[in-house]
Amino acid sequence: MEYRRFGRTGWQVSEIGYGMWGLAGWSGSEEQEYDKSLDHAVAQGCNFFDTAWGYGEGFSEQVLGKLMKKHNAKRIYAATKIPPKNFKWPSRPEYKLEECFPASHIIEYTEKSLKNLQVECIDLQQFHVWEDAWAQQEEWQKAVEKLKKEGKVAHFGISVNRWEPENCLKTLKTGLIDSVQVIYNIFDQAPEDKLFPLCQKLDIAIIARVPFDEGTLTGKLTKDTVFPASDWRSTYFVPENLNSSVEHADLLKPLIPAGMEMPEMALRFILNHPAVSTTIPGMRKINHAQANLSVSDGKKLSPDLIKELKGHRWDRTPTEWSQ
Ligand SMILES: NC(=O)c1ccc[n+]([C@@H]2O[C@H](COP(=O)([O-])OP(=O)(O)OC[C@H]3O[C@@H](n4cnc5c(N)ncnc54)[C@H](OP(=O)(O)O)[C@@H]3O)[C@@H](O)[C@H]2O)c1
Repeated sequence: MEYRRFGRTGWQVSEIGYGMWGLAGWSGSEEQEYDKSLDHAVAQGCNFFDTAWGYGEGFSEQVLGKLMKKHNAKRIYAATKIPPKNFKWPSRPEYKLEECFPASHIIEYTEKSLKNLQVECIDLQQFHVWEDAWAQQEEWQKAVEKLKKEGKVAHFGISVNRWEPENCLKTLKTGLIDSVQVIYNIFDQAPEDKLFPLCQKLDIAIIARVPFDEGTLTGKLTKDTVFPASDWRSTYFVPENLNSSVEHADLLKPLIPAGMEMPEMALRFILNHPAVSTTIPGMRKINHAQANLSVSDGKKLSPDLIKELKGHRWDRTPTEWSQ
């Protein structure tokens, strides 16, 4: 496992981290299987785990709490998130800060996360939605300062809304935010335009989330893939999105180097960017955990392939199904 600096926190985090959304609510989650995957990740040197209160109303946080207890000899960095008070994902420009993150809510949900994670201090507490219009409002700034002063949170981050990588730039200049979690993958390259250069200048860590475009960049989805109604992906991969996503992924298949699979190419593309501190594939199956964790071996994709993949940038804007 290779490690990277997590911005100005100075942490050394594994460049392959662990996304813990799927295990708390996506269909097909089995406790025995995801427990094995999590243990495997720790054994391979993965030390960065991303969860949220919103992943099963604290369930995923509790799983991480148990994992940290079980492996208490190892330094594991826990990143979680405060849900917006109105429980609406993503936020919209017309939402006021008081609807999403009043100080009392920031504090209340941090207390819940502390209990679920069974820790005295949360390594990284993130805002689960964000609007840059809130940058200068003291309401959230004071809560952040209070929680840090009390030693309940070490660092704060923002998880920016899907396909809105620049909806946080003013906030980053407040100096109160130490990391940004953003969708960055072979399709979603827009963070390279403004977000990454600003983060590099300010020494803010980048967590590259959704490395497989929610599954498309594994190359395993087809136009006939159906998700159960209870699985959020049934509302995301509506025919319009599923069909075009599969078409875009199919165009990548001829580019995959011999002996490689699409998920490996997708992760190596992300790790090629020096602004990225860690990427957090969602994984529950042991074979997925094994494959993804073994990608961190210091080897790089060829510059020609990177150039070719840059041409597969796919800029999208939020829609009613994008969430
Ligand atoms: N708003 C936010 O803050 C936000 C939103 C979305 C995601 N996130 C974070 O980002 C993490 C990653 O995103 P995500 O989980 O939504 O999507 P993702 O990582 O793009 O894709 C996850 C899917 O890829 C599959 N997969 C993983 N490795 C694979 C492999 N080697 N071969 C084939 N399939 C593979 C997983 O299967 P299995 O699960 O069955 O193993 C799962 O179905 C989340 O878990 C969460 O921590 C945050």
